[in-house]
Amino acid sequence: MTHQIAIESVLREKRLFEPDPAFARRANVPGQAAYRRLRKEAETDYQRYWARLAKEHVDWFTPWKKVLDWKPPFAKWFVGAKTNISYNCLDRHLEGPNAWRRNKAAIIWEGEPGDQRVLTFGDLHREVCKCANVLKGLGVKKGDRVAIYMPMVPELAVAMLACTRIGAVHSIIFGGFSADSIRDRVNDAKAKLVITADGGWRRGQIIPLKDTIDEALQGADSVKHVLVVQRTGQSILMKNGRDQWWHDQMKTASSDCPPAKLDAEHPLFILYTSGTTGKPKGILHTTGGYLVHTTVTAKYIFDLKEEDTYWCTADIGWVTGHSYVIYGILSNGVTSVMYEGAPNHPDVDRFWEIVDKYNVTILYTAPTAIRTFMKWGDKHVRKHSLASLRLLGTVGEPINPEAWIWYHRTLGKKRCPIVDTWWQTETGGILITPLPGCVTTTPGSATLPFPGIFADILDEQGKPVGTNQGGYLVITRPWPGMLRGIYGDRKRYKEQYWSKYKGIYLTGDGARKDKNGYFWIMGRVDDVMNVAGHRLSTMEIESALVSHPEVVEAAVVGRPDEIKGTAIVGFVTLEQGNEPSDALRQTLRQHVAKEIGAIARPDEIRFTESLPKTRSGKIMRRLLRDIAAGRGSVGDTTTLEDYSILAKLREAEEA
Ligand code: WT7
Repeated sequence: MTHQIAIESVLREKRLFEPDPAFARRANVPGQAAYRRLRKEAETDYQRYWARLAKEHVDWFTPWKKVLDWKPPFAKWFVGAKTNISYNCLDRHLEGPNAWRRNKAAIIWEGEPGDQRVLTFGDLHREVCKCANVLKGLGVKKGDRVAIYMPMVPELAVAMLACTRIGAVHSIIFGGFSADSIRDRVNDAKAKLVITADGGWRRGQIIPLKDTIDEALQGADSVKHVLVVQRTGQSILMKNGRDQWWHDQMKTASSDCPPAKLDAEHPLFILYTSGTTGKPKGILHTTGGYLVHTTVTAKYIFDLKEEDTYWCTADIGWVTGHSYVIYGILSNGVTSVMYEGAPNHPDVDRFWEIVDKYNVTILYTAPTAIRTFMKWGDKHVRKHSLASLRLLGTVGEPINPEAWIWYHRTLGKKRCPIVDTWWQTETGGILITPLPGCVTTTPGSATLPFPGIFADILDEQGKPVGTNQGGYLVITRPWPGMLRGIYGDRKRYKEQYWSKYKGIYLTGDGARKDKNGYFWIMGRVDDVMNVAGHRLSTMEIESALVSHPEVVEAAVVGRPDEIKGTAIVGFVTLEQGNEPSDALRQTLRQHVAKEIGAIARPDEIRFTESLPKTRSGKIMRRLLRDIAAGRGSVGDTTTLEDYSILAKLREAEEA
């Protein structure tokens, strides 16, 4: 059903937000003319352009012999060069003209219970060197895989950077995954060491990470040792010979550990992401290109300045946390804020308290979080000044215009540019985005490819589609941060991303381009429904539902329907103080028909207190599809954040 695409795009957003000249003057890419020059440079010779940026923004031990070796679908960037990411994130801020950064905050951390720690670049360097020596002592060598299953604590950053220091490959497994999922990932990567913690805090509760690891490691024979950070202090089992306390090991470790001089194509990390088949794919990233991509995009897109305090609210267990909590930010020598817990603990204004406490200047979060804040109500935001904020970013899914406008007005006080950044685990870094101060934005569009990135929208036959026609979003030339493969599965790598169009990367997203060339992402192609012969994006219908004043969040799925092929089912959460009713059901159906057209009118509206989400905030449409279709079993629910939602959704069905 998803393989003959001609997605009909029906939303039209007309509000435009011009760059503020005052912001533009001070921006790292200072305004439209500078932006056009950058684009021109990239379009003239993209390899030379990336090479220039690589020289200017990254330190290398040995220069490259060739910028790019491209034998589709296999790319090597900065061939022959040697570098080290922990060197770029740490050592270079302690030497030469930047030596003063030694005592600048690298990580400002806040635990959920309210405890705080600040690690300067000097502190972080010392901890990373010690940890690297601990890893060596436990038998970890260059190229070995280290699985990391940790809460959002500074030791997580230390562990990642320690791996990169010695050329070990980290595989971070998000703290919400179950024992079975961990076992699959540990076995797939044949990890030698696991780094974990006794537990972590979330909504006032302890998440028992070590217990889960113990269960996961039954049947994971590659693991020789488990290194355990003491975070919560509850009693856990320590297996003799296998398990080691972090603090014991660190006490005696030397803080002298020169960075390994690694090949630009040396593997950096594996990060598992779900594919259409259900078996997680180990996305493999390497050293040099990834570092260039994350460093440069962070600098230009977040307009990073020496004095910024930057906060990305993503968990490091997701790619956003890898690239834009740690690597791309620290390599620029900028302070990164890290928060351990939930946004509503102890109260729903925890984030705004953090912004004010540390004077956060740049905030990067997800549309689902933004909609949640809208639902909780503006008064919680208004209690705080937020005067320090100067730039806002979003990532993870298309942002519906209502949420964009709320972000702009209520959070940004109309003063902060918004960068809507499109990318994927596979892309390593941001690919489609406005540059603040340069690109006019419009709610719901990620606007234009970053200079040096070449994107297009193709039809089934591989021809570029016309203006405002939906099609497959593709990337037509290699880019430095691109995945180098699926770990241990060349065949799947080729098939999944490179088999539909020759030499062109298939993103799996549907999109359209407007008359200004702006990209509008329409969600995963798998989320596209065929309704009575017309293809519709679930996201566009959701956006229409959410634009109704009584609706705070909506998820739309298709249900098999005899006559139409697919019937549209909308799961809707109401703004506080509104009651579900039949009249409101009709109103909402009509509202969508009015916003988009009768073709998109939902056949069914179901009210629900909340939607099933992963802990990264993605709505689990797969589960909703099962519920909408009245199927009893709802498949794999290991990443679901709150199980009780499923029962409630089923109840709603009976009511
Ligand atoms: C998918 C990738 C990349 C970090 C988090 C997600 C969707 C991501 C946007 C955006 C519209 C977006 C796409 C993409 N997505 N950012 N700004 N606008 N859609 O990483 O889990 O690999 O998911 O998230 O569908 O393909 P991921």
